[in-house]
Amino acid sequence: MTQTFTLNDGNTIPAVGFGVFRIPADGSTYTAVKEALAVGYRHIDTAQAYFNEKEVGQAIADSGLTREEIFVTTKLWLQDYAYDAAVNGLEVSLEKLGLDYIDLVLLHQPYGQVLDGWRALEEFKVAGKVKSIGVSNMTSKLWKEYVPRFKTLPAVNQVECHPYAQQKELRELLANDHVLIEAWGPLGQGNQNLLNNPTIVRLAEKYGKDVGQIILRFENQEGIIVLPKSTKPARIQSNLDIFSFKLTDEEIKELRALDKNQPTHNPDATGVGDWLLKNFDIHAND
Ligand SMILES: NC(=O)c1ccc[n+]([C@@H]2O[C@H](COP(=O)([O-])OP(=O)(O)OC[C@H]3O[C@@H](n4cnc5c(N)ncnc54)[C@H](OP(=O)(O)O)[C@@H]3O)[C@@H](O)[C@H]2O)c1
Repeated sequence: MTQTFTLNDGNTIPAVGFGVFRIPADGSTYTAVKEALAVGYRHIDTAQAYFNEKEVGQAIADSGLTREEIFVTTKLWLQDYAYDAAVNGLEVSLEKLGLDYIDLVLLHQPYGQVLDGWRALEEFKVAGKVKSIGVSNMTSKLWKEYVPRFKTLPAVNQVECHPYAQQKELRELLANDHVLIEAWGPLGQGNQNLLNNPTIVRLAEKYGKDVGQIILRFENQEGIIVLPKSTKPARIQSNLDIFSFKLTDEEIKELRALDKNQPTHNPDATGVGDWLLKNFDIHAND
């Protein structure tokens, strides 16, 4: 059994999910997700804009696991935030994933017709087609702009989060409403400077673990849901194997001190929404 956290809507979510961003839909996503499920992941994080929902669904179907055993997240892309497009987009995701409900759906980016897209998510939740709903890439500024206008509080906010960008201010803001952070890029997206950080390397040696496991366990002990991505079987396995040791309070303090408050992505920057729309066209092959 993998560890779970409880969301503010009462549903539970496995604390470690398998991320599939940038895994191509050429059979690689199928292979990676199949492997992840075989070694014990019970939570998969995909998105419409990853173009690989169909392979995720196929791997789930072939896993031999029951629907209830697996937690699936997808994300609505911002091209589809207008209400009718959002409703249609959610139906398309259900179909591609081959599921009759999705555990968690997020608004992938906080731009454009956010309120309309959110309303569609709320309705899918009421209808039982989606169990939990959340947002992604909301800074404190964007959170304060949009969330007070939502009827339903998001269950999570999925943002870039790793030891060099610990999101302390945002985490404090969200903690008041029991909104959990999901860390994207929990391993710094493979940032070699982070993976060679002397404090992290020393702890890896002490516990006989690799640096990825130290980083993920730190985030986990901070109450953050982690979504490591890998296509390498050994790492797929090790990134889930983080519960056989526990960092001490002193070590947690040391790791907190590594924060540079420097995410690579700044959702508040001008023009981010337009850039994303230009670079991720989910309707290119419609
Ligand atoms: N909401 C959003 O806007 C958003 C944005 C980005 C990502 N995400 C989600 O978050 C997930 C994770 O983020 P991410 O994929 O960008 O980055 P990540 O998981 O932090 O890092 C993945 C990179 O690290 C490498 N890696 C994996 N395990 C490792 C280990 N134990 N030691 C050293 N290197 C390791 C991987 O290479 P190999 O594959 O070669 O192992 C890959 O290059 C995504 O897959 C996606 O589901 C969401």
